[in-house]
Amino acid sequence: MTGIRLTAPAPGWSIDADVVVVGSGVAGLTTALRCAAAGLATVVVTKARLDDGSTRWAQGGIAAALGEGDTPEQHLDDTLVAGAGLCDEAAVRMLVTEGPGAVRRLIGTGAHFDTTDSGDIALTREGGHHRRRIAHAGGDATGAEISRALVEAVREAALHTVENALVLDLLTDAEGRTAGVTLHVMGEGQHDGVGAVRAPAVVLATGGMGQVFSATTNPAVSTGDGVALALRAGAEVSDLEFVQFHPTVLFLGAGSEGQQPLVSEAVRGEGAHLVDASGTRFMLGQHELAELAPRDIVAKAITRQMELHGTGHMYLDARHFGAEMWEQRFPTILAACRAHGIDPITEPIPVAPAAHYASGGIRTDLRGRTTVPGLYACGEVACTGVHGANRLASNSLLEGLVFAERIAADIVEERPGAGPAEAGDHRAPSPLIAPEARSTIQRIMTRGAGVLRSAESLATAADELEALHNSAALAVEADEPKVAVPGVEAWEVTNLLLVSRVLVAAARQREETRGCHWREDRPERDDENWRRHLVVRLTPERRPVLRRTETEAFGPVGPAQAPDCAAAPPTHPADVTEEP
Ligand code: SIN
Repeated sequence: MTGIRLTAPAPGWSIDADVVVVGSGVAGLTTALRCAAAGLATVVVTKARLDDGSTRWAQGGIAAALGEGDTPEQHLDDTLVAGAGLCDEAAVRMLVTEGPGAVRRLIGTGAHFDTTDSGDIALTREGGHHRRRIAHAGGDATGAEISRALVEAVREAALHTVENALVLDLLTDAEGRTAGVTLHVMGEGQHDGVGAVRAPAVVLATGGMGQVFSATTNPAVSTGDGVALALRAGAEVSDLEFVQFHPTVLFLGAGSEGQQPLVSEAVRGEGAHLVDASGTRFMLGQHELAELAPRDIVAKAITRQMELHGTGHMYLDARHFGAEMWEQRFPTILAACRAHGIDPITEPIPVAPAAHYASGGIRTDLRGRTTVPGLYACGEVACTGVHGANRLASNSLLEGLVFAERIAADIVEERPGAGPAEAGDHRAPSPLIAPEARSTIQRIMTRGAGVLRSAESLATAADELEALHNSAALAVEADEPKVAVPGVEAWEVTNLLLVSRVLVAAARQREETRGCHWREDRPERDDENWRRHLVVRLTPERRPVLRRTETEAFGPVGPAQAPDCAAAPPTHPADVTEEP
């Protein structure tokens, strides 16, 4: 028996394809369009509607060395600095050199970027970038425009799409090769309830896991489904402890939960200042780039100020932009602020950090291949090595584009002639968590594994999560009537709990401060012990197993190896197996 699966009814319907792409953001739709253009029977499944993922919410833009005087080498330097010693340089080099061409091809697909009076692509700055290199659309509606163009292209190409579909688990053949996915569709007619898409290539482009925290910029669909599926299927995940908190999210009041409106870093890129209640700029003197320092530094500085002043937020002051600039350059943010009773033209915007981006994810090589043959990961769900310990602003849409093209090329090269492999189900079902646990998990994670972490806070979080995990298993053993029944909420919460447990296990293990992982009890970066990745797999008993690897070991990865260290979260670096 290999892997485990969610408890779910047997598939009642199926579709056969050459490739199934799960997710409909920039990564998923670009992969699907390229595969379909090469003649592969391609099915796109997505959790809500085609345009409902994280891509649509991206404001700032897409980073690429497109400006005069800018070069991929300079983009590489900024990315490596933000990544705090954990980027895979080969992956970053590929990203920054293939990036400009990929953006031009996106424009060829129909995306319209803002231009200067002379017709060149208009470029702005964001944190960590030493140059203007962020292309944007509709002012601050870049993701919405990219999403519009790609969805339109998918419709024109008449791709087979299945909406309102929550992916459940990977199907494999007798040799452990990918053979498709099971999924649950809330639809009517042909595809309703649990079914299967049988295909020898599966691309996970399911986005992030921001919903493990109480407050996040991520939409409600970002519940870590792809990472959870990959873990259950036996794939390796890496760098999960590096959760990026966006420094400036509109503060909606203490205890606000769910998706919060983003106030793009591009607002700071155009000259907005971070100030305290007295109007004093607190980023001056903290970093040579002041408000445009890498995101982790700004988020930490804001958090420190909030602690110092005993308040739940600081302020972003961009009154000096004036009405015309606000209306033309940042119409989305202006509308969001006004909808919440703030007018940024006349008053500073209250802002606080919130969970924004998972820098880690399913471990891949440079062609997007995971450690399970036939399974690919692309976009935020993947850990390709380009982000290291902290993603550079606006590198994520670029990563989605560049790796989508690489994955499609790999699938086309390895084009499966024989159609979908025989899919079997060799896995033990795992107990489901009750839907009511969702906000409990989010509160545990926010308190214990948020912007500020310590050995103590993480240990408490681990214990509380473990108690939830064990109570579900015990309830199943005892055949208790209140055991969660299969359904979208129970599957989502089970995924949230799994990724939370793995994230906390990795964060406990990494006894240093690096990038967006901030340990109050270990405030220094420890290159000697920790210039390494933490790679995690799940045992059949659903326990995370951690392994440390050197930065350089991120190259092509082969099949997952047998479990190699004790499952309970190790308590000291020496307990973690080393990869040569
Ligand atoms: C932003 O606009 O500040 C977000 C951009 C990003 O996360 O890359």
